[in-house]
Amino acid sequence: MVTGLFNKKSVDSLIQEASVDSDEGLARSLSLANLIALGIGGIIGAGIFVLTGQAAANFAGPAIALSFILAAISCAMSGLCYAEFASMIPIAGSAYTYAYATLGELVAWIIGWDLILEYIFCGATVAVGWSGYFVSLCKDLGIIIPPELANPPLNLPAMFILALMTALQVVGLRQSTAVNNFIVLVKMAVILIFVFAGIAYINQQNWLPFIPENTGEFGSFGWSGVWRGAGVVFFTYIGFDAVSCAAQEARNPQRDMPIAILGSLLIATVLYIAVALVLTGIVPYQQLNVPDPIAVGVNAVGEGLRWLKPIVKIGAIAGMSSVIVVFLLGQSRVFYAMANDGLLPSQFAAIHAKFRTPYIAIIVSGIVAMLLAGLLPIGLLGELVSIGTLLAFLIVCIAVPILRRTRPDLPRPFRTPLVPLVPILGALISALQMLSLPRDTWLRLILWLAVGLLIYFTYGRKHSKLLQK
Ligand code: ALA
Repeated sequence: MVTGLFNKKSVDSLIQEASVDSDEGLARSLSLANLIALGIGGIIGAGIFVLTGQAAANFAGPAIALSFILAAISCAMSGLCYAEFASMIPIAGSAYTYAYATLGELVAWIIGWDLILEYIFCGATVAVGWSGYFVSLCKDLGIIIPPELANPPLNLPAMFILALMTALQVVGLRQSTAVNNFIVLVKMAVILIFVFAGIAYINQQNWLPFIPENTGEFGSFGWSGVWRGAGVVFFTYIGFDAVSCAAQEARNPQRDMPIAILGSLLIATVLYIAVALVLTGIVPYQQLNVPDPIAVGVNAVGEGLRWLKPIVKIGAIAGMSSVIVVFLLGQSRVFYAMANDGLLPSQFAAIHAKFRTPYIAIIVSGIVAMLLAGLLPIGLLGELVSIGTLLAFLIVCIAVPILRRTRPDLPRPFRTPLVPLVPILGALISALQMLSLPRDTWLRLILWLAVGLLIYFTYGRKHSKLLQK
């Protein structure tokens, strides 16, 4: 019964697969700039435009800027581990592939299945956020979208943007990255305009006290509030790891993957801290418990910044669109890798003859995301994304020291520093953050994994190419 469950794919064969650039396979077309833009495209989205205010108002006050630093440090630990793998095994599939090489087929399947929670559910979550800003922008333009058409169980704008981004993905990676590059420029410009225009309106009184006194309850202000705030804004950083899914399409993955993963994380961190400081400087944090805190901040200043309001909305809408592109891309590449290994039907690995994209994997990812976004509320989707992502981070962190021990000889163009300290800390922090999530989210994760295991034992295991060798 257990034979083969822990079979591992040899890293040498993975490296071999990665070096083939045939005319039928995925095209190696992504430059370093494209990869960094993919990272930023995936990271900066719904989170900064939606969650920052709530986290400041409920948990951390102006010290939400510190929460951003803490969350960035914990993501950086995982990011360093992803960087080692992505440069060593530059193949589609990300954490799924790394687990296959280190922990065996069963864990790889679990992680592949779990990544759906991160990528498809995140695409759906952000599409729901997109819908909120879109409806609000339409209203400003005098177009009223009835609430029953833009909320579960029927969120048409969310389904529309997912359908559009799915079609874009199918047409080509080059087209998708061109659109992504443009959107990334727009959203970074909007954030920088907000920061620089807002600086003049900062009232330093709003920052005092910088860490509001704890109310007596864990997580309600004080240092524990900073910690809880970090847990909430963790969502804003998810996406840097999605860059690793594109490793097989990178021109020079050994050099570029680590730079793109860690560089995009660093750029997002700097922008987030700046936004947090300006936002809590221009408006008392107590007023920020709203779904559109940046727009509220701009409003609170009065006439001076009113011109910025539509620009902020456009930035948010643009920003979220690129997150959807990156996450659908990530998911389709995970499906592609799993199908190549025989764990999913071979159609998922089919490459379109003209567009050279895994079009069936993309279309299935898009349709599932549309169904989720249409039907489910944002809170439920978001918590599943966080737990799914943290589980992937945990496994990638554990896998680094394992492969260092079992295959010390492999060339590692990028080495995670201070192994095993950094991976152990990364794994511990991810585990602690998972434990802080509600019990219902855990139950849903367990149910999700149980469904996954059922599929593995009834389909994947029987078709596994590794087992048949
Ligand atoms: N980090 C991404 C966002 O905030 C998921 O939208």
